[in-house]
Amino acid sequence: MNLVIMGAQWGDEGKGKIVDFLAAESDIVLRYSGGANAGHTVVIGEKTYKLHLIPSGITHADKRVVLGSGMVIDLESLFSELDGLSGQGINWQGRVLISGRAHLVLPRYRDLDREMDSKRKLPIGTTGRGIGVAYGLKANRDGIRVVDLFDSSIWEKLSAEDRAALEPFRERVREMVVDITYLLYKEKPLNILFEGAQGTLLDIDSGTYPYVSSGVSCASGAAIGAGIGPKDINRILGVFKAYSTRVGNGPFPSEFSRDRDGDLESTIRELGREYGVTTGRPRRCGYLDLVALKYGCLTNSIDSLVMTHLDVYDEMEEISVCTSYNFKGKEFLNFPASLEILEGAMPVLRSFKGWRQDISGCSRYEDLPVEAREYLEFIEEYTETPIDIISVGYRREETIVRKDPWTPS
Ligand code: IMP
Repeated sequence: MNLVIMGAQWGDEGKGKIVDFLAAESDIVLRYSGGANAGHTVVIGEKTYKLHLIPSGITHADKRVVLGSGMVIDLESLFSELDGLSGQGINWQGRVLISGRAHLVLPRYRDLDREMDSKRKLPIGTTGRGIGVAYGLKANRDGIRVVDLFDSSIWEKLSAEDRAALEPFRERVREMVVDITYLLYKEKPLNILFEGAQGTLLDIDSGTYPYVSSGVSCASGAAIGAGIGPKDINRILGVFKAYSTRVGNGPFPSEFSRDRDGDLESTIRELGREYGVTTGRPRRCGYLDLVALKYGCLTNSIDSLVMTHLDVYDEMEEISVCTSYNFKGKEFLNFPASLEILEGAMPVLRSFKGWRQDISGCSRYEDLPVEAREYLEFIEEYTETPIDIISVGYRREETIVRKDPWTPS
C-alpha cells in the first residue's frame, strides 16, 4: 500500500507532523521533491525536531527513509541536519538512503540564488537555499547528480572549488546511495509513505507561476521522485490548514487585510506560530481559500484531506472562509491561471460561528463541538472530498483519525 502525503496549499500545512504520525504503519518514508528550502517540524513528547532534507519518518527508530530522485540535496546541510539528529539521540546510521539520481546543491548556488532573485522581473522572495539554481541546471542538463560524485569522468571535469566543497562528504554519502526503483521492486510489497514538500500552489506547473518553487510538489511528483509509475500510488492525502499562509511574494487572494480584518493576521500568526522554519520569516496569513483548496483536490486527484491547526481557531467568535473570488465585478469559482486575476481578486467570504473552547483534548470526531463539525462538513461538501484526519494540536496524540488511510477501502 502506497500513500502520498502532500501539501494542498502554499506549503507549511503541517505535513511533518502528519508524516510522522502515519509513518508508524509504513516500511519506508520517501521524500520526493524540494530541498533544504522545506522546514518540517515534528514534536514528540518534550522534543522538537526541525527537518529540512530528511524525511519526517526518521524519528521512528525502525524506519528507513529515502531522499528521492526529485530532490535537490545540499550535502553540507544534510550532514549538519544528521549530526543535529544524532545530538538529539536519533540513531540514523544505516536508515538514510539517497537516490543516486537526486541532484546536488553546491554552496555557491545559495548566493547565486539570491542574486538571480534580485534581478528577476518579478522577484519571488526565495528561501535563498540554491534550490532554483540546482533545478535550473538540472533542466539545462548541466547539473551534478549524487551518483556523479563517484564517476571519475564527471568528477574530474568539476572546478577545483566545487570538488573542494563536495570532497568532505563524498565518502560519507557513498554507502547511502541506492537505486530506488530496484530497491522498491525487490522489496515489494511495502508500505511506502511518499512525503511531499512545499505545496501544490508552489508547484512549478500547477502553482501560482512564477511565484513558485522549482520542484514538482504535486502528487504526481511522488512517482517521478521515487522512480515508479503513477499506477503504483494507491492513495493521495492532501494536507491543509484551517486557514491559509504563504511565505515570500506572490498572489494570495484570501490574505487578511488590516482595513477589513483588523489585527486578525497577527493574532493567527502568533497562535499558529506562523514563522518560517527555514528562514524565520513571518508568514503571510489569510482565510481558508476553498477555491484554491478545491483546485488542489482536482489537480492532484486527492482522495482525502487532512486538516491541521484547527485548534488555532479555538478562541474565535466567528470564522470565515473564502468561497469564490470577485474580479472586476465577475465571480470566479475556479482557480485562475492568470496572475492579473489572482492579484486583483477580492475574496467572497462566508462566516461560521466559532466554538470558543479548547479542542486539543478531542480524540474522536464526535468529541468536536458542533460548530467545528459544521465548519469541517462545509469544507467537505465544497471540495467534494472527505476530511479523514484532523490535527488539533502539535503533538502526535492530538490527532483525530476518522478513517485510517492505510486500510484498503
Ligand atoms: P525557493 O524554493 O527557495 O526557490 O523559493 C520559491 C518560493 O517558494 C518562495 O516564495 C519561498 O518562500 C517558497 N517556499 C519554498 N519552500 C517553501 C516551504 O517549504 N514552505 C513555504 N514556502 C516555501
